[in-house]
Amino acid sequence: MPEHRTTGRFAVVTGGSEGLGLAIAAALARDGADLILVARNRDKLETAAKELGRHGTVVHTVPADLSAPDAPARIAAHVGNLTDRLDTLVNNVGTAHFASLADTTVDEMNTMWHLNVQVPLLLSRQLLPALVNARGSIINISSYWARKMVAGRHSAAYSATRGALNSMTRALASELGPQGVRVNAIAPGAVRTPQYERSYLAPMTAEERTAHDAQIEHSYPLGRLGTPEDVATAAAYLASAQWTTGTILTVDGGLTIR
Ligand SMILES: NC(=O)c1ccc[n+]([C@@H]2O[C@H](COP(=O)([O-])OP(=O)(O)OC[C@H]3O[C@@H](n4cnc5c(N)ncnc54)[C@H](OP(=O)(O)O)[C@@H]3O)[C@@H](O)[C@H]2O)c1
Repeated sequence: MPEHRTTGRFAVVTGGSEGLGLAIAAALARDGADLILVARNRDKLETAAKELGRHGTVVHTVPADLSAPDAPARIAAHVGNLTDRLDTLVNNVGTAHFASLADTTVDEMNTMWHLNVQVPLLLSRQLLPALVNARGSIINISSYWARKMVAGRHSAAYSATRGALNSMTRALASELGPQGVRVNAIAPGAVRTPQYERSYLAPMTAEERTAHDAQIEHSYPLGRLGTPEDVATAAAYLASAQWTTGTILTVDGGLTIR
């Protein structure tokens, strides 16, 4: 068993048990953070904690469904029991429902607005005193869908929430800068995560998969999907970039320049 030694520097990563969140957590741990991972499924959290702890990182887990109204306060209470200083908050959990205007339901709109906009805002508010104490930073995981539309994939309600998250990032950067807290976002292109595999690639027929791969090669100047590590590299940069705030960092293999 490795020796787990606390560094006294803390990072909260929502959705830190899988995909982008897990890779971001690993990158922040490599830069010396103790981790506090938030997700719903306890088994996945424990697996992630074991994996991240292999090299001695201290990993705390908080099982919580961020869609529950009391989740931000409960998470903050949990963090408060561990530390009064927070170096990094990564608001990574988000959700997407694609539907045409005619088929978009109020329930879907509310779910996306809550998880993609309100939760990052409320969690940031709950954790602000600890972020101020550490002169820490917030990193919001947004999406290329704020700026780039795709023919045939109707995204009005989803894209609106990503645009809102970007605007919120810039507004909070302006508001919190004088308190020493930086606020940035990352706008990833499509990244091959377990979620992307499950919901997008797995249901495809062989022909659809061939068309998908050709489309990726054509649309992305760098010719491939992203990896979670591509995004994690950007998050580690933003966590340490002491004079960078209010940035929406595009990490998308060049997708949005075409
Ligand atoms: N993958 C892409 O191509 C892509 C591109 C652009 C932006 N993004 C954004 O990047 C973020 C991460 O995406 P991802 O692809 O890594 O997968 P994801 O399925 O969005 O996130 C997976 C992580 O979030 C947790 N999670 C999901 N819903 C939760 C909830 N209600 N409460 C607490 N935890 C929750 C999951 O654990 P549990 O299931 O155990 O809760 C898991 O740890 C999302 O905001 C996504 O929209 C992804």
